[in-house]
Amino acid sequence: SATKVTKICCIGAGYVGGPTCAVIALKCPHIKVTIVDLNQARIDAWNSPDFKLPIYEPGLEDVVRQARGRNLFFTTEVDKGIQEADLIFVSVNTPTKKSGVGAGFAADLNYVELATRRIAAVANSSKIVVEKSTVPCRTAESMRTILEANSKPNCRFDILSNPEFLAEGTAISDLFKPDRVLIGSLQTAEGKAACEALASVYANWVPTDRILTVGLWSSELSKLAANAMLAQRISSINALSAICEATGANIDEVAHAVGYDSRVGPKFLRASVGFGGSCFQKDILNLVYLSESLHLPEVAEYWKQVVTMNEYQKRRFSKTVVDTLFNTITGKRIAVLGFAFKADTGDTRESPAITLIRDFQSENARVNIYDPQVEHEQIWADLAEASPATPLANIQKQVSICKSALEACKDAEAVVVATEWKEFRDIDWEAVYKGMNKPAFVFDGRLIVDAERLRKIGFKVTTIGRGE
Ligand code: NAD
Ligand code: UGA
Repeated sequence: SATKVTKICCIGAGYVGGPTCAVIALKCPHIKVTIVDLNQARIDAWNSPDFKLPIYEPGLEDVVRQARGRNLFFTTEVDKGIQEADLIFVSVNTPTKKSGVGAGFAADLNYVELATRRIAAVANSSKIVVEKSTVPCRTAESMRTILEANSKPNCRFDILSNPEFLAEGTAISDLFKPDRVLIGSLQTAEGKAACEALASVYANWVPTDRILTVGLWSSELSKLAANAMLAQRISSINALSAICEATGANIDEVAHAVGYDSRVGPKFLRASVGFGGSCFQKDILNLVYLSESLHLPEVAEYWKQVVTMNEYQKRRFSKTVVDTLFNTITGKRIAVLGFAFKADTGDTRESPAITLIRDFQSENARVNIYDPQVEHEQIWADLAEASPATPLANIQKQVSICKSALEACKDAEAVVVATEWKEFRDIDWEAVYKGMNKPAFVFDGRLIVDAERLRKIGFKVTTIGRGE
């Protein structure tokens, strides 16, 4: 019979570990959930008395308010968290490697390995160890080797893969009502029992027919596959948006018509300035690297094209801005609305806005940025990282961060919508128009403004995927 899980430890209090385990605590009041991290500032923010949490996610504060101090705890005492728990989620970051073998493609598994070694070093009872981080296929094998080589005699470790499918901005509703929960295990009696134990945690709120149990390697690969296929849809629609602009077809109409086919479906067909976020590009590059290591160059090339198309889309958009502004933006002021990689998040990892602004900077434009959520220090850090050769003081001469969309657009030649924040739809566009230099241009990289209305006001509007 399966172990009954009563104490969970989550290693990694980030975008995934935090919300995921906070929801488990909320839905399972009988389980003690401890989220541990090495980053003291992050843990302090999770514990802050006025709930100034380290990440912005609609509905998250409410969940933390209900569970924190009841059966949900945040701490830097990693070892104690590990020792107490019968089930441990490993939810640490797995960024793309920046140097060494596989640099630019392979996932950096150093954090996963360090966490795994810590578990092996301090555990004094048997544990179920769950890969929550997104990892290459067969990582569980390495984890098992490390754990078994270092374990004490009375400890056994069962390893599960339980990838996370939440999207930022909708994390809490995704966790409350997941399309599916995926659990991979070895098909041994012990593996299946561990799988059963984790499934029974989710069964507290997820219908059992949505809890899928598969083999370990299938589970690991399904996570990379799901992200690759989602991103592939965006690159496909973005490739078509270029054809629309050249022919006068309208990408909204094309996406609608194609998505109406129930075999295709309507979601994730929104043309954009390019996808961002910490995972799509990273996970596809990871899949490309995996394919190459398996001597499958055609497969690698196929998936790589999804990222290539995304780079092209970002470049194409900044070129459209320059071309439309009479082939020069030197000294011109451009208002960039939105800096987060998507709406309803303060996360900026791989945000297309960063690339656009870097392109505008290199054309010697002046840039005003407004985003309703992103911290100013984060914007400066991202811009500095994007232009490593330029001192921050020089960047700050060219770029300003503004407190409202209206302020950002003042005295600008052009407005660029880079994130689909709902408030950008409802800006007082007449006031924006009055404050701008003429002709006043709007470039909609997210298909959210009402182009017809803006033209009536006097704007010259360019929309992704719409040829005029
Ligand atoms: P993150 O960087 O926000 O959080 C990771 C945390 O782990 C950090 O706070 C870091 O300090 C901590 N950490 C690293 N090594 C540690 C160690 N040895 N001991 C204790 N703490 C340690 O990352 P994230 O966005 O939460 O992503 C985590 C994983 O989940 C990644 O593999 C990612 O691919 C995957 N994922 C992310 C999302 C998403 O929307 N962000 C969605 C699904 C899956
Ligand atoms: C994505 C997946 O949707 C999640 O299922 C997955 O768990 C997660 O990656 C992960 O592994 O990290 P996320 O990156 O948070 O989630 O957000 P998405 O909603 O997928 O958006 C990603 C990017 O694509 C954003 O820049 C968004 O603006 C863009 N996008 C999305 C489009 O350009 N068009 C679309 O139709 C949809």
